[in-house]
Amino acid sequence: MDSKASTDFTGAAICALSSRAFPESAAHAAAKIELYWNEHFQKLGQDGEDWFCEFESLRSILMRVLNGYSAQILIVGCGHSRLGECLYDAGFVNITNSDISTVAIQNMSKKYQLTHPGLKWCVADATKLDEFTDQSFDVVIDKGACDTFDFRADKHSAALLLGQYFASIARVRL
Ligand SMILES: C[S@@+](CC[C@H](N)C(=O)[O-])C[C@H]1O[C@@H](n2cnc3c(N)ncnc32)[C@H](O)[C@@H]1O
Repeated sequence: MDSKASTDFTGAAICALSSRAFPESAAHAAAKIELYWNEHFQKLGQDGEDWFCEFESLRSILMRVLNGYSAQILIVGCGHSRLGECLYDAGFVNITNSDISTVAIQNMSKKYQLTHPGLKWCVADATKLDEFTDQSFDVVIDKGACDTFDFRADKHSAALLLGQYFASIARVRL
């Protein structure tokens, strides 16, 4: 089984199992997560923030997995990270940065509009990704996003969000 098939299977399985059991608490948890992060990024203003692993420490692995400089790249849960900026400066031109936090996306799109106008910014919940059509990205990068699903959720809601997340990623990836 290749890694894509494995991801599809995992996402579908967790989703099917959990969506029957916890349908409402997950929506509630997602709203709380958005509020939490909006407050966080409001305080940061336009300051950059990489929670861990700045671009240089990831450069060699990213260069191996990214399929050429024209690859369609989706970064989920970008926050205030400099990853999109650094990838763009390294030569990748099709980068969409997304986050559930409207504040993060507003802050970052404003910050980069003059220096990096080619970067795209989109408010998107990674557990849905409704903004994107099927198979529209070569690569989806998650640096410290899905592991935060339990920040403000009980563990059952976090499990549901994680299942929906894997299904969404599998849908938008080529
Ligand atoms: C720990 S921060 C990591 C930010 C950035 N990727 C980095 O490396 O510094 C977690 C990020 O995930 C985002 N996030 C949390 N839940 C999300 C969801 N369901 N969909 C999209 N982004 C989400 C938060 O808004 C926040 O920007």
